[in-house]
Amino acid sequence: MTAVQKPATAAPGHHKLSAACEAAILAERAVYPHPRTALLPALKLAQAEIGWLPPPIVARVADLIGVSHPQAQELTTFYSMLHTKPHGERLVQVCAQVPCGYMGGDRLLAQLEQKLGVKAGDTTANTTADGKVTLERTVECMGACHRAPMCRIGDNYVENVRTEADVDALVSALRQGQVPTTPGTLNHDFHPQADSQPQATFQPQGTAPTKPATAYEPVLLPRQPRTTQCSLAEYRAAGGYLALQQALTTMQPDQVTDVVKQSNLRGRGGAAFSTGMKWGFVPKGPGAKYLVVNADESEPGTFKDRELMEVESHMLIEGMAIASFAIGCTEAFLYLRGEYVEAGVRMRAAIAEAKAQGLLGKGMLGTKVELEIHVFLGAGAYICGEETALLESLEGKRPMPRSRPPFPAIAGLYGRPTVVNNVETIVNVPHIVRRGAEWFKALGPNQKSAGPKIYCLAGAVNRPGNYELPLGSVTFRELIEQFGGGVSGGRKIKGVLPAGISAPIVPADKLDAKLDYEGVQAAGSMLGSASLIVVPDDVDIVRAATRMLEFFRHESCGKCTPCREGVAWLHKIMLRIEAGSGQAADLDLLLSLSSRISGKVLCALGDFATSPVTATIQHFKSEFLAALRDGRGAADDWSRRQ
Ligand code: FES
Repeated sequence: MTAVQKPATAAPGHHKLSAACEAAILAERAVYPHPRTALLPALKLAQAEIGWLPPPIVARVADLIGVSHPQAQELTTFYSMLHTKPHGERLVQVCAQVPCGYMGGDRLLAQLEQKLGVKAGDTTANTTADGKVTLERTVECMGACHRAPMCRIGDNYVENVRTEADVDALVSALRQGQVPTTPGTLNHDFHPQADSQPQATFQPQGTAPTKPATAYEPVLLPRQPRTTQCSLAEYRAAGGYLALQQALTTMQPDQVTDVVKQSNLRGRGGAAFSTGMKWGFVPKGPGAKYLVVNADESEPGTFKDRELMEVESHMLIEGMAIASFAIGCTEAFLYLRGEYVEAGVRMRAAIAEAKAQGLLGKGMLGTKVELEIHVFLGAGAYICGEETALLESLEGKRPMPRSRPPFPAIAGLYGRPTVVNNVETIVNVPHIVRRGAEWFKALGPNQKSAGPKIYCLAGAVNRPGNYELPLGSVTFRELIEQFGGGVSGGRKIKGVLPAGISAPIVPADKLDAKLDYEGVQAAGSMLGSASLIVVPDDVDIVRAATRMLEFFRHESCGKCTPCREGVAWLHKIMLRIEAGSGQAADLDLLLSLSSRISGKVLCALGDFATSPVTATIQHFKSEFLAALRDGRGAADDWSRRQ
């Protein structure tokens, strides 16, 4: 196949929505407390019908929702999943972020380019001559890092595309107009990710280390193997929704908040703030309040919330219902990243099931309590993981972080008191209510770092996947060796990124640090969301850092000048170093520029973006010097410079 100039999604001039699509948009408008919230879902409905979003369609959507044309246009040009240009019938997006890039993603992209006869990234040559396939390289992680290399085709994930035979099967399917319909359709027998985990033990808080360790039974991801969604019947048979019943029928809302406070549950999204305290900040009294669960899981290396939603949907619903009761809200939102279509489908189905059994809606479990849960999908923007940007997105605006104060607990969604919690934080809540704060605090080395924790493990390990353990019960090395099956290919570890790509890399000589908040901090980094990416010793750290910078440059929302301009410059300088045309002063320039970004912007993205520069120069300076001297290898070669 040869490339063509003009992709072929919709026929030219076909810029009119069908009556059915317009009716669906109007129905969406009626769902939310404020119509503008429906703007993003409405644009996605229009795009699903037309294939892309030409200006007349954007204008028509704006009219239907009741917003100005520029308000709709500013969303259309922001989100990466909204297309302002047509593309082929099938859009294939290959993940090139760390770790996918060095786990075979770059090679997969090169093979697809060669076999399809197209060039990703070149808008005049990225589509096959028959208009069937457009190929894109993306640096946005898609939450499938444990099944690398992967690509997304339309709404479907194709994971573990490891061999040339896999690529041939994929190309053949695409040529015949077929799309794999479920994740893993093209997976071959080599399927090593952890959908179950080895038996774990831990030393309960307060017991002498000489006592035998206790066996640990996972509670957040209890089902083995974790391959299908847990049904409502299965969940209830295992005691599901008893915590909700207990809260609604035997406790006051303040008592629920108190038990969560006493447990010392800290936010699992990365900030580690006390969950109970956050709930306690919400003013009492009448008026709308909201719970927003942040499932915009976009940090490279992170895929735990995806698995929780796809498998343990009812645990999340129960946690949301208890949290809503505690803060006194009757309307809650679950904000998923736009790529998590499958998780969204499963969550909606589970919510409908729960409603049908009187577990949600009006008169829950025979009480006067009520709750409506909205499942809302974003459209490709890492910045929505920041809580105030997420709220802007829910309000139908460009997702740019807000200045604080006021904090969301006082003035959040629609200016009303709002609690924003991460998915993993919320699934802990039913267990704390049922088993008590002391049970939770006993799991872990100290009462500040306690409770179950899901560690995402990706990169160069034999068994990547999600592992649930008591917080701080293992070191980096133990997690990688005992659970991850060791480093793949018999290699050594160069370092581990402990919180996706947002925290400083931990070098190999610090891998005996405990995986809790204090242990990782002592090793010079942050636990964050506990998404560990193992970087083997043969990966070129300069290329890895450049790829991470490309991500942050792409994801900066543009609101704060130091981040918008500074991160772009960091990336440009890294590119020239990688290409071998760097200058001797470039390392100092990178560090100086980083110090002018970090701490000088509204949200944490600016800080995160400097980690790939500062920490990699600190620990691997000789590789940077070699890159300044020798330049880069082949485009898909991640080998370390000698
Ligand atoms: Fe590629 Fe996460 S799916 S880096």
